[in-house]
Amino acid sequence: MPGSTRQFARCLLGLFVALLFTLPAFSQLRNAAAGRLSVGAAVNIDAFNNTSGEPQYRPTLSREYNMLVAENVMKFDTIHPAQNTYNFTQADQLVAFAQANGMKVRGHVLIWHNQIPSWVTNGNFTRDQVIAIMQDHITTVMQHFAGKVVAWDVVNEAVSDNNGAMRTDSFWFQKIGQDYIQMAYQFARQADPNAKLYYNDYEIEQPGPKADTAFSIVSGLRQQGLIDGIGWQMHKVNPFRITSANETNAARFLNLGLEMTVTEMDIRQTLPSTPTSLQQQALGYGDVMRFCLTRCAALVTWGFTDKFSWVPGTFPGQGDALPFDMNYQPKPAYTAMLNELGGTLPAPTGLAATAGNAQVSLTWNAVTGATSYNVKRATTSGGPYVLAGTATGTSFTNTGLTNGTTYFFVVSAVSSSGESPNSAEVSATPSGGTAGFTIAFSPTSLTVNQGASGTSTINITRTNFTSGIACTASGMPSGVSATFNPTSTTGNSIAMTLAAAATATAGGPTNITVSCTGGTLPARTATLTLTVGGGGGNGGVTVTPAVASSSPFFNELQVRLANTQTISALTVTVVIQRTTGVSFSGQYNTIGGQITQSNSSTTSAITYTFRLSSGTLAPATSGRTFAAQASGSGTAHPTSGDTWTATYTVGGQNFTQTGTF
Ligand code: G3I
Repeated sequence: MPGSTRQFARCLLGLFVALLFTLPAFSQLRNAAAGRLSVGAAVNIDAFNNTSGEPQYRPTLSREYNMLVAENVMKFDTIHPAQNTYNFTQADQLVAFAQANGMKVRGHVLIWHNQIPSWVTNGNFTRDQVIAIMQDHITTVMQHFAGKVVAWDVVNEAVSDNNGAMRTDSFWFQKIGQDYIQMAYQFARQADPNAKLYYNDYEIEQPGPKADTAFSIVSGLRQQGLIDGIGWQMHKVNPFRITSANETNAARFLNLGLEMTVTEMDIRQTLPSTPTSLQQQALGYGDVMRFCLTRCAALVTWGFTDKFSWVPGTFPGQGDALPFDMNYQPKPAYTAMLNELGGTLPAPTGLAATAGNAQVSLTWNAVTGATSYNVKRATTSGGPYVLAGTATGTSFTNTGLTNGTTYFFVVSAVSSSGESPNSAEVSATPSGGTAGFTIAFSPTSLTVNQGASGTSTINITRTNFTSGIACTASGMPSGVSATFNPTSTTGNSIAMTLAAAATATAGGPTNITVSCTGGTLPARTATLTLTVGGGGGNGGVTVTPAVASSSPFFNELQVRLANTQTISALTVTVVIQRTTGVSFSGQYNTIGGQITQSNSSTTSAITYTFRLSSGTLAPATSGRTFAAQASGSGTAHPTSGDTWTATYTVGGQNFTQTGTF
């Protein structure tokens, strides 16, 4: 590859890797909610900026939510720390993050009795000066974020917990009087006519004196066209369920033409939480999502991970109030919300398999909302799959597999709402274990006659071993040589041929040892017994033709046979030419009943057959005779041109000898 091309390829690879790590994982809650309501969370600025200490904070936030709200950094004391000083740095960071991740921003909060800096509270300002400070604050902050913050909590918690009375100890109430509320909304409307203006409070979710007071405040503002939304904070205690009272109460706010947002939801519980308490909490979260789906512009929780929540600091011994646990893992509360959105789990991604010895280890990426995973296995690609096991984490090792077999795996994610589709398939072939092989001859004994050869197969059985195997033979009698085909194999057999020279030493059986080696393994040996038959190439059988009689009226042709080895099959044939006047006269042999004799004639030949009966043997002897007789008509039969054939088996080898008389 030329240098420039290589550089380009490296660039592409770098880009790919960068994309891999910057692309968000599957967006779950926000995708499921898309087009129906916004899902948001309050952001703790310390966690948000501690990207090395809390590497999961930002990715979880942007993956799951399409709205954020500053938990503290848009509050008066942070954003307006001195009379002529505004500090938007941290709030701007959150807005930039939201814009980069397609998230809306809620503004919290403009006028509240908490988190007012001391320059305001201790400034000894007149009513008019406080009104001017309020107007300046609202105007400057809203105009700074104009077009970037969709809705503002203009006034927060103006009603006390005391039987619906106004919060009269509020700095704003004390300095300005109850009018501060209407003024705040007027200033806000002027500052950014496009922002939605909210009134936000807690414990106004159910009917009662506090909700009634809040309702009357927003009713008045609504009549003047100064308000657009009602925020129910929804800081609740486990177990919490939505009731018809909540729905009735919501209806009257909605009937004012207001939009509604659950602005600060959490459901706190006494620590430690238990599986049961978390399930109870999930019911509350599911209820609120269901409630909101038909009523709310947004459902915002006050944080998202239990690691960062206002609850434990304010209510010692309580916590676990949010949808993700301390480790950023989704809790039943999360799944309940997702289920209400009809979110189905996506198939796991990133499935990878590593083959081991009789096992395969799998890993995959977590699916948000999954409570477990089904690992499925097949021996053919595409299934059918069987359940190999379940895992609560994102890894699984399937043991007890057969080395050398290729397995195909998929994984699905499971939650109380059901099971996801299967992941993409991966395959792995377990191997390893003790490498080895064994060898065995088939057949285990051979008889090879002088001048002939015989073959036995060396069968190789391999275990976790794929290298080439080659063999050598030793212990052969003089004149016998061994050849191997192939000389080396990565397969499972080698043919060994033993060839006996005509001068080879006859006799046996002799043990031939074959030694096979492969890789670095020690040699494996096997033994074959070899018998070398005599005969110099005819199996020790000598055939001699003879014309015993040749006269005008009768002739007899003999095949004389001498053998030094036992014959296991034998056929002798004599063919006499049938000239005019010549016909079959008789046949005999000197072996006896083990020989089946027959003959047949055509116009041109008489054929005499002698066959050793199947299953009988003809032991070694110096001479046997097979005789073919013909009678004539006065002219001597010309025997030259008559033929004989002897076909026989010695030591498992077939021989044929032919000749003429
Ligand atoms: O920033 C200072 C830090 O410098 C100092 O070392 C530390 C010592 O306590 O305090 C830090 O400020 C704290 C601030 O949160 C930031 O963490 C304040 O003490 C603490 O009072 C403040 O609490 C916030 C609370 O509002 C103030 O009333 C919570 O984080 C915040 O979750 C909570 O949010 C409110 C909503 O605005 C309105 N609705 C109720 C909700 C829960 O109380």
